[in-house]
Amino acid sequence: MAIIVFGSANVDISVDVEALPRSGETVHCSDSRIGLGGKGVNQAVAASRLSESSVMFVGAIGTDHFGSIVEGELERLGLSTTGIRLDPVNPTGVAVIHVDKMGSNSITVSGGANLCWTKSDISELSFDGISVGLCQLETPLAETFEVLKQMSAAGGITILDPTPVPVSGIDEVFTAVDVLTPNQQEAERLLNRKIENPTDAVKGAVTLCNQGGLRAAIITMGESGIAFSEDAKTGVWLPAFEVNAVDTVAAGDCFNGALAAFLSAGATMRESISFAMAASALSVTTTGAADSIPSLSTVKKFLENR
Ligand code: RIB
Repeated sequence: MAIIVFGSANVDISVDVEALPRSGETVHCSDSRIGLGGKGVNQAVAASRLSESSVMFVGAIGTDHFGSIVEGELERLGLSTTGIRLDPVNPTGVAVIHVDKMGSNSITVSGGANLCWTKSDISELSFDGISVGLCQLETPLAETFEVLKQMSAAGGITILDPTPVPVSGIDEVFTAVDVLTPNQQEAERLLNRKIENPTDAVKGAVTLCNQGGLRAAIITMGESGIAFSEDAKTGVWLPAFEVNAVDTVAAGDCFNGALAAFLSAGATMRESISFAMAASALSVTTTGAADSIPSLSTVKKFLENR
């Protein structure tokens, strides 16, 4: 059985700054790096590092220099590139990332080939043997919906990380989703109300689970914790692990990949969430996106020592 991740592949250009620049401001950075990124790729790398299931990444890149970087990095990390569609026209996705001295970030993405899937491309995909399917929304909404439907029809548990939240049309997509994993800002947009504290987050998770007809809704609240609901009536709050954050880029991706890894292994929702929280906490202690994802043994050791 395989975990299949459909999503974006980017080259990340990251700069470390004292504070995120304001409009009209030019600032010096203390360090910079180019690395593998894209929410889809990061989640696939996390699932692959943290599980014994096989993992397939399905994504699109251009036939440009950045595309070669993505392919080379995926090979270096031991992920198959057979699910990658080479787009002859559009460029590989690029993300420009500012990381401030608290480890917080702001990201601007140029989607390129990630946004150019067509229904005909999707109809050629196969999801045979899927255990868990994982999607985000750096790919077109209508085509991602088709993928989720196909994943579900093939027997996979479907997880949607609804980032970025589209202006409209997401409610219909929930009909093909089992587990929804918004962060605080995304949950606020989906619920159309502020989430100020754990109580709001738990109520929000119950509402999302109920409204979306989901198997589970999980709201990730960064360094404070996670709220989730599995029955659309009650919710649970789990406080975050305390760590020294240096770079929070891809923490959510690490969470989603780890969640898929544990659900694929047959763990309960609560066990899977706790494991994913530990993996995600460890990921923020290192710089980078795909490069910051910890190994299974590191996460197990971290949990043993609590
Ligand atoms: O979630 C982090 C990712 O968002 C980065 O790797 C960047 O590529 C953007 O897609």
